[in-house]
Amino acid sequence: MEVFGVGIIGCGNISGIYLHNLPKGAGLELRGVADIVPAAAQAKADEHGVPAYTVDEILARDDIQIILNLTIPDVHAQVSAQIVGAGKHVYSEKPLGVDFAETKAMLDQADAAGLRVSCAPDTFLGAGARVARGLIADGTVGDILSGQITIMNHGHEHWHPNPGFYYLPGGGPVMDMLPYYLNALINLIGPVARVRSVNSAPFSERLVTSDGPMKDQTVPVSTPTTLHSLLEFENGAQIISAASFDVWKHGNRPIELHGTKGSLRVPDPNHFGGDVEVAIGREDWAVHDTGAMPMGVNNWPLNKEFDRANYRAAGVAEMAMAIRENRPHRANGALALHVLDVMLAIVNANPEDGPTKIETTVAQPDLMTEEQAAALFV
Ligand SMILES: NC(=O)c1ccc[n+]([C@@H]2O[C@H](COP(=O)([O-])OP(=O)(O)OC[C@H]3O[C@@H](n4cnc5c(N)ncnc54)[C@H](O)[C@@H]3O)[C@@H](O)[C@H]2O)c1
Repeated sequence: MEVFGVGIIGCGNISGIYLHNLPKGAGLELRGVADIVPAAAQAKADEHGVPAYTVDEILARDDIQIILNLTIPDVHAQVSAQIVGAGKHVYSEKPLGVDFAETKAMLDQADAAGLRVSCAPDTFLGAGARVARGLIADGTVGDILSGQITIMNHGHEHWHPNPGFYYLPGGGPVMDMLPYYLNALINLIGPVARVRSVNSAPFSERLVTSDGPMKDQTVPVSTPTTLHSLLEFENGAQIISAASFDVWKHGNRPIELHGTKGSLRVPDPNHFGGDVEVAIGREDWAVHDTGAMPMGVNNWPLNKEFDRANYRAAGVAEMAMAIRENRPHRANGALALHVLDVMLAIVNANPEDGPTKIETTVAQPDLMTEEQAAALFV
């Protein structure tokens, strides 16, 4: 099997799970890390026994063909363009960028160079999403007509040591969390055609209560933190999206979809596993446990009792597999650009203007077989 040398730019909070999972990715070999803050790269390098580089050094490495961009959203497109400029494939954390034109230019640059761009979330490759997709693909719940998604919590300042970016343009619950839900929904029912939304920012600043350098300081809010939207999909489905960083507690399901024959409860798309529930007609909910399936087995958090499946980096292994097999990869740049298009339409919506037509579209990713899923990690 062709082995790809992998590097990481951005050694912050989320890099830990990638550093943990990458060495198990089929045909992937972690060969170095970099960060704009050298100490951050050095700490991860020491922990994982790989070299620490500067950003320029890692871009120049001949033994690295794929670079993960785990920096903050504001610089994603810029750093990905640097990676592409260095002749390497990119796997970016979400969102692919925060500015549509800049992000599309980066994708065009990659296309012209024959390089792949892949983007998180890759959770839709997980066991929960595969079972849900199967129940739609085999006609069990019929055609999806409607549904709702719920992304509600009280923000990240109680756990993230440096949460300021979540409250700047590019942050907020939509830019931060909707990629998980949109990837899940596009995988299940296809692309979005139109959106409308009503948005607000009820708090002008947020108090950081997490341990770290920001504790007891406030960060300013300059992006909406409560956004209630209606998404019309190309297949006609109408999905209500409730996204807020201003909610202390709620009892809603992450994703509930209603089809012509029955209803489907899709597990939290921030995770790879979880129970899928299906009800046909007026029958009771039947539970599909995905806990023994590839990318359904609980493996996280480390040093505690595992309570979820976290296979982040699956998308990197899937892109490598797709390059080897000379076929499109599933968490591709066109999908991430469409997701960005939808998110920007929501964030920038003015209810007085009526619905926003989404100009981009994307093909529904191919259904992933269990054999393909099992082959991503060794
Ligand atoms: N923290 C999470 O639980 C989580 C979960 C899923 C996805 N994400 C996404 O992952 C990304 C990173 O989040 P995080 O929580 O790790 O942030 P973070 O602030 O903890 O880490 C980001 C790192 O990138 C580095 N960096 C910033 N600009 C850089 C540049 N131009 N060149 C090189 N390095 C640069 C920073 O020094 C920092 O070490 C974000 O897009 C976020 O949405 C985070």
